[in-house]
Amino acid sequence: MNSENASTFGQIFKSENEIPEEYKIKEIHQKEYLLNGELIQWNGETTAIYSPVYIRTENGLERKLLGSIPNIGVKEAIEILDASVKAYDSGFGEWPTMSVENRIKCMQKFVYLMIKQRDLVIKLLMWEIGKTLPDSTKEFDRTVDYINQTIDALKDLDRESSRFEQAEGTIAQIRRAPLGVVLSMGPFNYPLNEIFTTLIPALIMGNTLLFKLPKHGVLAHYPLLNAFKEAFPKGTVNTLYGKGSEIITPIMESGKVNVLAFIGSSKVANGLKKLHPKVNRLRAILSLDAKNAAIVTKNADLDVAVSECILGALSFNGQRCTALKLIFVQKEIAEEFTQKLSNAVRELKPGLPWEKDVKITPLPEVNKPQYLKECIDDALQKGAKVLNENGGFTDESFVFPAVVFPVNSEMKLYHEEQFGPIIPIVPFENINEPIDYQINASHGMQVSIFSEDAKEVSQLIDSFVNLVSRVNINCQAQRGPDVFPFTGRKDSAEGTLSVFDALRSFSIRSLVAAKATESNKNLLNTIVRDHDSNFLSTDYLF
Ligand code: G3H
Repeated sequence: MNSENASTFGQIFKSENEIPEEYKIKEIHQKEYLLNGELIQWNGETTAIYSPVYIRTENGLERKLLGSIPNIGVKEAIEILDASVKAYDSGFGEWPTMSVENRIKCMQKFVYLMIKQRDLVIKLLMWEIGKTLPDSTKEFDRTVDYINQTIDALKDLDRESSRFEQAEGTIAQIRRAPLGVVLSMGPFNYPLNEIFTTLIPALIMGNTLLFKLPKHGVLAHYPLLNAFKEAFPKGTVNTLYGKGSEIITPIMESGKVNVLAFIGSSKVANGLKKLHPKVNRLRAILSLDAKNAAIVTKNADLDVAVSECILGALSFNGQRCTALKLIFVQKEIAEEFTQKLSNAVRELKPGLPWEKDVKITPLPEVNKPQYLKECIDDALQKGAKVLNENGGFTDESFVFPAVVFPVNSEMKLYHEEQFGPIIPIVPFENINEPIDYQINASHGMQVSIFSEDAKEVSQLIDSFVNLVSRVNINCQAQRGPDVFPFTGRKDSAEGTLSVFDALRSFSIRSLVAAKATESNKNLLNTIVRDHDSNFLSTDYLF
């Protein structure tokens, strides 16, 4: 740790009056949930929401209370499900039958109202999940961009579909139609962005939605409830709060959910899918487990490898599905690489999310510091060391990153997705070792290769493209740009998410076809000329 950081270390948490005025937050005690176009008052049980940020008080450190949310029960959850089912109305509802042009207008109204809540949402992201100010700002702005890009992609899709096609004596118009009721559940690490990357395409394609808010990052959605209410027809979007294990089970068991959009663990996703009584009727769009490896060969530019591995392993404290969670380094350069990496970790500034240049912040999951300690202890017992000064230092919810070396396949850190600030490093002699890791892994999202040797890089590209879904060359693993496909193999994903792909994932192709006879041509021409059908139309969306 550099000397400036050393002085902040141990003093991460501040007293209330040391928090700058513009970042102070008032408690939000949410008493409403969105059902059938109304913000329904909730007078029942609530769940308190605490920040990962502790406050220094006369009685010692106390976790900051941010407010509370409704803890709805099964009865309300079923009402919410029924509202979504009714709004879809077997495809006859106002929303699924609305023209694409009008659906886009609703979405534009939503974005307009959403942007008005920008400052509050960003502040809530910092307080609720401990994300830094630049990253919280990026999460909000990236989400707005994603919505605007989705609108443009839908216009393109609609333009491609606004014509008749002819083959083997048959004329057809082919469009994409909604699937029905979508249950959307997202994670705490991108509580806004990841939920919206499924919710927005699902919605704009004409599906109706119920969405379960993540445990951490739930209040960040509160300022947006009114925007949903104002922008979309009633029942199109409904919100679920409460214990997932209690309220999601009956929803899935009802068989009324047509699409499960879930970002979280493969174990939970499997359990949810199995609850559906008619599994063939359920489409699943899933983004799940990942333990993306970096491979640093002796031909790497070590400065590039170090700075990208730091970004990849420690952005948002390593709490990204795309994070680099295991680094393989060739033995010849292992010492130099680990030394440079440890030096770079030392420069990372710990602190609170709004502090200037801060990189390492408190963790929202209450049990995470203990879990990370268990991972480190397990590695130490089996022969590894923590290389960096203060690596693994813990103060309540704050954990300083640990560079752990040498890691091997006997250790938890080799297999488990730590989802936190630990960088496990595995030395290797033969390039087949990291390849074998990926062959035997239960997941297959991304890999990052660090080498300047073209022959070596080509060999690794060809080995990995069929094992993972994205091979990054001399850079960290990541989801963006959002127009690129984001998916994974094995237990890492089901379906593909990108601005373009998500519109397809949340819809199905439906076509109207007729023999190309004169009478049928006249019939179709009349329907199109008189604008009698929403589906059968050659109107062009600009
Ligand atoms: O947690 C998974 C996120 O989708 C990763 O997104 O790579 O842009 O941080 P990112």
